[in-house]
Amino acid sequence: MCASDTENALRTLHADGLAIEENHRNEFCLREPVSPMDSIRLKNALHQSGYLPAGRFELLDSVDSTSSWLDRQAQSGLSIHRLACLSEFQSAGRGRRGRHWQGAPYKNIMLSLGWEFAGSANTLAGLSLSLGVVIADGIQSLTGAPIRLKWPNDLWCRNRKLGGILVEAFSSGLATTRAIMGIGINICPAEVNPLDAGYSVTDLISECVGPVPAREEIAAAVLGGISERLERFLSDGFAADLKRFNELDIFLNQEICLSSAQGERIAVGLGADESGAYRLNTGDGERIVNAGELSLSLRDNSLSHTETRSQEL
Ligand code: BTN
Repeated sequence: MCASDTENALRTLHADGLAIEENHRNEFCLREPVSPMDSIRLKNALHQSGYLPAGRFELLDSVDSTSSWLDRQAQSGLSIHRLACLSEFQSAGRGRRGRHWQGAPYKNIMLSLGWEFAGSANTLAGLSLSLGVVIADGIQSLTGAPIRLKWPNDLWCRNRKLGGILVEAFSSGLATTRAIMGIGINICPAEVNPLDAGYSVTDLISECVGPVPAREEIAAAVLGGISERLERFLSDGFAADLKRFNELDIFLNQEICLSSAQGERIAVGLGADESGAYRLNTGDGERIVNAGELSLSLRDNSLSHTETRSQEL
């Protein structure tokens, strides 16, 4: 291999998030061994979970964002209905509210699923909360980890963020809505906090009771669970998951700090309503907040986070 080939190979590995070291014999090696997901194993697990054969998937080593990848497929005229993109690394992963979603390569789960719904985006109210319920219950039954939900879209475990959901909807009039649902779950402990938002984070290896299942099994459980739920979503909506969401809600009956441009205030969490909005007892009556209006955090925990982007559900 000539010097420029080596340089190109090193540049590619670096762009894929891999740390490379040169040893005393001038050989280049990975700083840490990696265990990529195996596409045959993933395919088998996806069959077991019920995601295949109706669903489709693409497993990548590196991409800017799995959600952006699906969007590009749709922009080029391809149907992304039931198409999942999984990637071992994202160079420009996106979180809610324009935040970044970073993670070491080959250590986490980062996937997006495309779905086309009949009707306008209004019919998808509460969709991301329903997905949270399915994913929380699926991971809990697979790993024993006590997963809870932080309204509207965070997977939570023992007071720390385990993962997040970003649902983006693109409507063409009232007839159809294309949704891209992006899910990130921390599997391995991070050397640095992978989020840029001042959250405390955790991961499944730290939370799992017993050995953590292979990432292929976890990804398949997520895709199998959510695709089964998506098939029914237009007929039963978030209302079917409301009771379970409120059982998993970290804010329920807790003192919450509400932050807005006007300042901070304390309220008590009353759970979500059928539309996926959040109910609060502010002391002088009940108040309903929609994702996008306010930042909610537990009063004894500084986990604040403001919601705004209208395209996000
Ligand atoms: C959040 O908690 O802010 C939502 C995070 C969503 C991250 C996932 S990772 C896979 C998919 N691709 C992205 O660029 N973002 C989502």
